Amino acid sequence: MIYLKNLYRLSLASLLLLGTVFLLSQCQNTESRAAEAGLEKPAHDPLVLIFLLQYISRDYQYAVAEGKIINTFEYQEMMTFSHQALELYLEMQQDSAQPNTIFQLQQLREIVHEKVETDFIDAHTKVLITDLNTELKIRAYPPQMPSIERGKQLYQASGCGTCHGSNGAGDGPVAATLTPGPGNFQDIDGMNTAVPYHFFNAIRLGIEGTSMPAFQEAFSIQEAWDISFYLLTLRAGLKPVAPSKPLNVSLSDLATKSNNDLLEELQEEMSPLAEPQKTSLMNSIDDLRLNPASVLSNE
Ligand code: HEC
Repeated sequence: MIYLKNLYRLSLASLLLLGTVFLLSQCQNTESRAAEAGLEKPAHDPLVLIFLLQYISRDYQYAVAEGKIINTFEYQEMMTFSHQALELYLEMQQDSAQPNTIFQLQQLREIVHEKVETDFIDAHTKVLITDLNTELKIRAYPPQMPSIERGKQLYQASGCGTCHGSNGAGDGPVAATLTPGPGNFQDIDGMNTAVPYHFFNAIRLGIEGTSMPAFQEAFSIQEAWDISFYLLTLRAGLKPVAPSKPLNVSLSDLATKSNNDLLEELQEEMSPLAEPQKTSLMNSIDDLRLNPASVLSNE
């Protein structure tokens, strides 16, 4: 038995070694191909900048509350990321950097420094991300109508469940060994504030300093969107009910806004809503999450 175990380990080690050698040779190939084509180092990926801002928007609540630092590590990250965002933008845009964007990024750094309320950071990063999508010509929604079914199949076939659990409850077989632990895609608050565009970036770029791997090579752009849209259907208490008349929501809205964002915006369009009407509006949003093809338009 012991012998078998060792043999298993040995073959695992040699597989890993082979894998590394293979990957290294692939890297060299790509580099030499790029050199042949006369290409410089690849330009910065604008999505890295967007992802930094999305990360700040999502995690600031764990760093600061009521003007005080509640987690030093998280706060340090917020400071670092807001600095990096400005540096990255300047490096990327060089002479074409827009004064207004520079100003907004500097302001973000300052308000993190001042430990303002979470809502303030959230609103500031959201405006910045919308402006950057336009400025950097990023198409922040899927090229084709996302398929929830395909997203589910990809999630199940790609080992996400090992950490996140087969139903996304954050209870995969190795979850308990991870710090930080994997997110729980069923959590009501967490998922009502989750944005598919952010999940799309997390899946493609991975999350540094955690065990969340980058799946940039594994999935096409469309597939990464399919999975992101699928994840938003996992929330506990999802209750899809088709609205009597279609909501004024586009595919781009579904991709770049959380359920709470959509709820807030749709409410503004209607007269003040009582609690039961809000619930029924949320049920209609759930219906769109499950059936994104019923949106009115792409943008
Ligand atoms: C080896 C473990 C592991 C695997 C495999 C893994 N993840 Fe993760 N994932 C994590 C951890 C840990 C985090 C939380 C990181 C943090 O707290 O910042 C995370 C975070 C995420 C997030 C961000 C969640 C949020 O609330 O902001 C998404 C989206 C995600 N994973 C999707 C996936 C998908 C899809 C797959 C499969 C294609 C996958 N993960 C595979 C460990 C894993």
